[in-house]
Amino acid sequence: MSYKQEYSKSVEDPQGFWQEKASAISWFKEPQTILSQDDNDIHRWFADGELNTAYLALDYHVENGRGEQAALIYDSPVTGNKKTYTYNELLDEVSRTAGMLVDLGVGKGDRVVVYMPMIPQAAIAMLACARLGAIHSVVFGGFAPSELAMRIDDAEPKVILSASCGIEVNRVINYKPMLDEAISIATHKPSASVVWQREQSPGLLNDGFDHDWASLLATAKPVGCTPVNAADPLYVLYTSGTTGKPKGVVRDNGGHAVAMHYSMKAIYNMDAGDVFWAASDVGWVVGHSYIVYAPLIRGCTTIFYEGKPVFTPDAGAFWRVAAEYKVKAIFAAPTAFRAIKKEDPEGELIKAYDLSALETIFMAGERLDPPTYEWTVEKTGKPVVDHWWQTETGWAIAGNMVGIERLPVKPGSSTVPVPGFNVQILNESGEPAAVNEQGFVALKLPMPPGCLPTVWGDINRFRSGYLDQFPGYYVSGDGGYLDEDGYLFIMGRVDDVINVAGHRLSTGEMEEVVAAHSAVAECAVIGINDDLKGQQPLGLILLKNGVDMDHDQLEQELVQMVRDAIGPLACFKRALVVSRLPKTRSGKILRRSLRQIAAGQEYGIPSTIDDPASLPEIEGLMAEAGLISAAAS
Ligand code: COA
Ligand code: AMP
Repeated sequence: MSYKQEYSKSVEDPQGFWQEKASAISWFKEPQTILSQDDNDIHRWFADGELNTAYLALDYHVENGRGEQAALIYDSPVTGNKKTYTYNELLDEVSRTAGMLVDLGVGKGDRVVVYMPMIPQAAIAMLACARLGAIHSVVFGGFAPSELAMRIDDAEPKVILSASCGIEVNRVINYKPMLDEAISIATHKPSASVVWQREQSPGLLNDGFDHDWASLLATAKPVGCTPVNAADPLYVLYTSGTTGKPKGVVRDNGGHAVAMHYSMKAIYNMDAGDVFWAASDVGWVVGHSYIVYAPLIRGCTTIFYEGKPVFTPDAGAFWRVAAEYKVKAIFAAPTAFRAIKKEDPEGELIKAYDLSALETIFMAGERLDPPTYEWTVEKTGKPVVDHWWQTETGWAIAGNMVGIERLPVKPGSSTVPVPGFNVQILNESGEPAAVNEQGFVALKLPMPPGCLPTVWGDINRFRSGYLDQFPGYYVSGDGGYLDEDGYLFIMGRVDDVINVAGHRLSTGEMEEVVAAHSAVAECAVIGINDDLKGQQPLGLILLKNGVDMDHDQLEQELVQMVRDAIGPLACFKRALVVSRLPKTRSGKILRRSLRQIAAGQEYGIPSTIDDPASLPEIEGLMAEAGLISAAAS
């Protein structure tokens, strides 16, 4: 079937299309209702079906003769360890870990927070929760204790699973003290914490609350799969919105399993037995979908990599892993390839490895700039696919579906809408934009299986953040256009979310932190272009009257405050003191104009501006500090 036929079918007859895709996975009870609406009037897929996601990822394959196939390969250049888990072994670990959770009182519907580095126990923890119908909430290890605390308070977990430390290239990051701090800040108190002790730096266990993971596991009994309804949540994953409070994206079991299974073939062209490698982190949606769930549901081998694209030990790391395990598809953020390109511009290290098994390189998480696209194609000789998606959708909204039909590539475009996603470009008043006209990238409802049905505990936030702006549509928060061939070009966020090294961050949240400094009267944080990380945050600071503080000293203090409050991954490194911030007459900071200045773009002086001289003045200051991007002018 051609892409066009597949896509048309998915939008003309969504129920028939997804019923057929759903029949490809193994249900405990096949769904009779394909699409319905829940009590909140939100579309739900397969509502009366029953299944278990861990069953699909493990037991199903063992029952169907894949028990001795590698399920997960752990490769850790930062510790020098490698370990392969067959499907039999992973099933055994997961069912005993589920038993360990049962012993701690965890059951269906309970939340479990997972705060871990890239070690196999993180995947085992997720799958163990899924086995019980418990809801996991994984928190990325680079987040500071206060961020973890916010998530604990929102998800209200019964138990927290963690590890004593993570390793960043050659630095040990002690997780346990951060976990202790988070638990002490949080209002909600979990009943227990379980710590995987790593030899690089074991943590101090508090009597009566912390448990040693390995000791509990030694006596835990394996448990079977708890059937859940398709609409029951599998996990909650927090992501940055425009305010300081992260949003808990809810993923259901049934729609997710169907989307994961379908996408592995349609988008990535992966069959059972193939080796797939998403070089991300389980703390992000890519890690949930394509390190853990989709490859296992499809019966593939997944690579679990604890390392970086560079310095562990060099810029050949990706090629070494791809060659060693005969990886068929790699998926990583463009930043990773920009880092490799910076260290090995001629691609010399690529030549040292046999990449004959590698079929396609996939990139997502941020805009794939044409130079990075072209470098990767030229140096590897492999097709590169840019695909666009979000934590909210859980899988790609647009891409080049190589498992259906490989379409010609247009650099800068994430190709065409994925079947099931009715992508529309809308103008300010919600009317369809013309071909090649930029607007809000929206998805006509219903969205396909796998997409969020709500924000955890806050249906109103789901409605106001995504559904209310244009009735009948989900608004993605990205701007872009469709060209005359139906190719989608994503041009960046239209809100205050930025992407730093493929990590999604809220400038509003950084502003809250920066504004708390005693010298700061007001501030605006915007994203500016960065050659390596795509974007980096820049703080524009207005000092309080009468404050005379050394600007370098202030910058250092603000950098430390953001690091402590959000985490090192925020990469907040620059703060510029200005004498006034451009505002509308009603007092709103003109962030869009500031972004345009930083991007070296033409900017108009809005008629609503209070002080027309403020924009050129900031432009001058930013130019002097070398903060205006020449590339985008
Ligand atoms: N735990 C603790 N700290 C972490 C962390 C983790 N899991 N991940 C990152 N950090 C820290 C880093 O050590 C760094 O700290 P520093 O400021 O003290 O040096 C900081 O957070 C910023 O990290 P990062 O943005 O990753 O920069 P880097 O310079 O360490 O590495 C790259 C640069 C390009 C190698 C790296 O960003 C990368 O691999 N990017 C790919 C991104 C990706 O996979 N995204 C997932 C979406 S698909
Ligand atoms: P996250 O939820 O962390 O996956 O971030 C989602 C956001 O990352 C999207 O809303 C986009 O702004 C950006 N993004 C992801 N993939 C792409 C892509 N292929 N091209 C452009 N932007 C992307």
